[in-house]
Amino acid sequence: MSYTGLAGAANAALAKQGEQLFRQNCIFCHQEDGVGKPGLAPSLTNPELLSIASDSFFERTIHDGRVGTAMPPFAHLSKDKIQAIIAYLRSFAKRPSRAAEVDAQPAAKGDVKLGKQRFKEICSTCHGVNGEGYAAGGSGTAIGKPGFLGKVSDGFIRTTIKEGRSNTPMHGFTGSNGLANLSDREIDDIIVYLRTLNK
Ligand code: HEC
Ligand code: HEC
Repeated sequence: MSYTGLAGAANAALAKQGEQLFRQNCIFCHQEDGVGKPGLAPSLTNPELLSIASDSFFERTIHDGRVGTAMPPFAHLSKDKIQAIIAYLRSFAKRPSRAAEVDAQPAAKGDVKLGKQRFKEICSTCHGVNGEGYAAGGSGTAIGKPGFLGKVSDGFIRTTIKEGRSNTPMHGFTGSNGLANLSDREIDDIIVYLRTLNK
């Protein structure tokens, strides 16, 4: 291990504590090293998620869980313990954080009807016709529910659609390697539609 100074050592100790807490509370669903398992729980250690998710997103998601999904609330864990878990997850990061930049992106503007049509054609197979997630039988998470929509920026959704999540069934939807090559406008149409589901 290289010498990282006091701050680095404190961080490593925090991540170590977080690893233990992760093993006790999360691994059953999110698996060893947080790699996830489609249909059971998403990956928490892929580079795309780690680079766009703010600490606040992680904190609130872990604290509140996601109502109407299998992700339970961990409100009984202290703020320090949740911070330790986040430090552990961050130890897998391969890219610098872009969370502030991504969250500052402009809100999506688009056509709800076109977005709905495109969502049904492309996204519903995995995420469910109303974005209900695993309950619909696919591999995708509940992106039509408030547990997700209430905690993410349009930039977070936009970047995820564009880049996907490595080593999961969520491939990016831009470029020729994507499941579909969507334009920025088409992606924004979908985001505007998703926002109508947050009731
Ligand atoms: C082949 C299946 C599949 C298709 C098609 C698909 N997704 Fe996904 N999507 C996933 C999976 C699986 C995940 C979670 C990744 C994981 O398991 O770690 C995900 C994650 C996401 C997330 C992040 C959700 C979160 O909980 O953080 C968003 C946003 C998203 N998808 C949007 C879309 C949109 C919009 C479309 C259509 C353009 C789409 N996806 C099409 C499988 C799919
Ligand atoms: C009983 C299974 C289960 C347990 C235990 C569990 N989770 Fe989850 N978690 C899920 C599911 C399922 C989802 C996706 C819910 C959805 O469809 O939106 C999720 C989603 C998440 C997300 C959002 C990821 C994303 O891609 O947006 C985070 C962060 C998370 N969990 C962290 C944790 C942490 C940390 C723990 C332990 C303290 C934990 N989870 C324990 C099932 C679980």
